[in-house]
Amino acid sequence: MDHLQGKVAVVTGSASGLGRAMAERFAQEGMIVVIADNRFGEAEAVAKEIERNGGRAVPVEVDVTRRESVMALADRVDGQLGGVSVLVNNAGVVSFTPIAQAEEGGWRWIVDVNLFGVVYGIQTFLPRMLKSGRDGHIVNTASLAGVIGGGGVQANRIRLGDATPQIGAMYGYMATKHAVVAISETLARDLSGSRIGVSVLCPSHHENTNIFQNSARYRPAQFGGPMSQEEMQATFGQTDQNRERALGPGRSRPRFPDECAARVVRAIREGQFYIFTHPDTRAAVEHRFNQILAGYDDATTFVR
Ligand SMILES: NC(=O)c1ccc[n+]([C@@H]2O[C@H](COP(=O)([O-])OP(=O)(O)OC[C@H]3O[C@@H](n4cnc5c(N)ncnc54)[C@H](O)[C@@H]3O)[C@@H](O)[C@H]2O)c1
Repeated sequence: MDHLQGKVAVVTGSASGLGRAMAERFAQEGMIVVIADNRFGEAEAVAKEIERNGGRAVPVEVDVTRRESVMALADRVDGQLGGVSVLVNNAGVVSFTPIAQAEEGGWRWIVDVNLFGVVYGIQTFLPRMLKSGRDGHIVNTASLAGVIGGGGVQANRIRLGDATPQIGAMYGYMATKHAVVAISETLARDLSGSRIGVSVLCPSHHENTNIFQNSARYRPAQFGGPMSQEEMQATFGQTDQNRERALGPGRSRPRFPDECAARVVRAIREGQFYIFTHPDTRAAVEHRFNQILAGYDDATTFVR
């Protein structure tokens, strides 16, 4: 899809961070951007800033964890702006999701936002996009966390010994981001040959984004409310360590959201599917796929 001027882009979670940068960049490309976020005051401020800079932006309150809220967003975009051409399912959170303890709130929340937010976005907007007959593009924000793993595995062998297990808190984030990659890959297969393109954005560490602070401060009451100091420490205190463990040699240097946004625009124009933001994380992805292929080597050498 190379013609963006005058088209409508909806970006969820665009009151902050990467979503905001994408919205700003789309506006610079001459698109009308919908700043869709559950923090309406912040969405309004971002829309005003875009308009001050000569762009066109409409703030809309949406909670991506509720299908009816996403439907209301789509109705508003159809009614007021004549439908969407570019949809970015970007809203995301991070929370404390241990695997070995009975803790439900963090899991429900992260699955509802990071996974169902993307599902509801696709379910709601895709039929309308197809029906319009226009060119369109859907970008789902996953993460590098959606394509890596297997940090504790070498040549398809787990290490056993006397070490004390260090159970981290990133299970929910990893699980939901892998799911977003899987959904995007499946959607790309299903939409192949149609007028709707699909990309999956797999960013690594970016400066000037607020997922940790926003997640801690604005977690809704039904998922446990704002995080306590202990939970914040459990959720975020270990992230460097977790990142190190997960990425190993592929650990990256932070980059800036406007560069990520420019990569997204290029991907939409050129029809790129995977959008990576940090070329220096390649080794971490290679590591995971090498473990999977080593599993195949074991399968091949199996003798009954
Ligand atoms: N920042 C990074 O370095 C990084 C790295 C990898 C992936 N990501 C992914 O990029 C996306 C954006 O992250 P960010 O760092 O810009 O975060 P951010 O907190 O700066 O922005 C996310 C926005 O989503 C909104 N949001 C949260 N829950 C919502 C809901 N239920 N409904 C609607 N909006 C909601 C928040 O209000 C916020 O404005 C996320 O999906 C995140 O997982 C970010």
